[in-house]
Amino acid sequence: MSAQNHIRRITAPQITARKGGEPIVCLTAYDAPTAALADEYCDLILVGDSLGMVVHGLPSTVGVTLDMMILHGQAVMRTAHKSLVVVDLPFGSYEDSVETAFKSASRVMMETGCQAVKIESGSYAAETIAYLVERGIPVMSHVGLRPQSMNVLGGFRARGRSKDIADEIIENAISAAKSGSFAVVVEGVSEELANRVTKAVEIPTIGIGASAQCDGQILVTPDMLGQFARVPKFVKKYGDQLEATRAAIAQYAADVKDRSFPGEANLYHFKTAST
Ligand code: KIV
Repeated sequence: MSAQNHIRRITAPQITARKGGEPIVCLTAYDAPTAALADEYCDLILVGDSLGMVVHGLPSTVGVTLDMMILHGQAVMRTAHKSLVVVDLPFGSYEDSVETAFKSASRVMMETGCQAVKIESGSYAAETIAYLVERGIPVMSHVGLRPQSMNVLGGFRARGRSKDIADEIIENAISAAKSGSFAVVVEGVSEELANRVTKAVEIPTIGIGASAQCDGQILVTPDMLGQFARVPKFVKKYGDQLEATRAAIAQYAADVKDRSFPGEANLYHFKTAST
């Protein structure tokens, strides 16, 4: 019998059990080096379809494919060994039927080895969530601002200003929880609404632009690292990678032009074999 390494990862039920407890630390990651670092500090790593915008330069997440999610999921899974890894199901891969959703979700799990999937959860999602969970696929839901619906919503604006929409967001979260989601992302809502959603469900709420009222927080990692000049208002920049990268590339270009790179330290030195 072959020896197997069983890695003790954080599980979906363990995340659910953190409701109302120590805040759950989550970040997105799309590549192996970032996942390795995030894994040291995070409970949950999301391979978000935000990768379409922050890695591939798409105008929204609508153009992201299942193959893209799987490729990035595989990269993350190679170096994230402790955190729960969740991969987003992209637009068009789960909405039309529970069978389509199961096909997409099972493919993501089998080809990446991730532990769960996330779906953006409007009222249509309850049946899908229950179908996936019953068949062994943990589901994280996503309510409030749902970026895959930006063409219907008219952009990436905060949600829930009106009573009707606020009530609908709470309903979506309750329905996602009742259907078996292990956690729910709440995006782009007021502190008051985040508080109401958090109180309304027995699963942890993971906030993004939704105040500290949630049970955990997530950010799009390139945004919080400062890789972009413009980021959403709610993002706190914990780094300035844009300037650091620009300065490094500018210095490299200058060094090449004045022939100071490669310098002595960058050269191979081979001993000439004496014959
Ligand atoms: O795609 C993503 O990165 C997300 C987070 C913003 C929660 O869904």
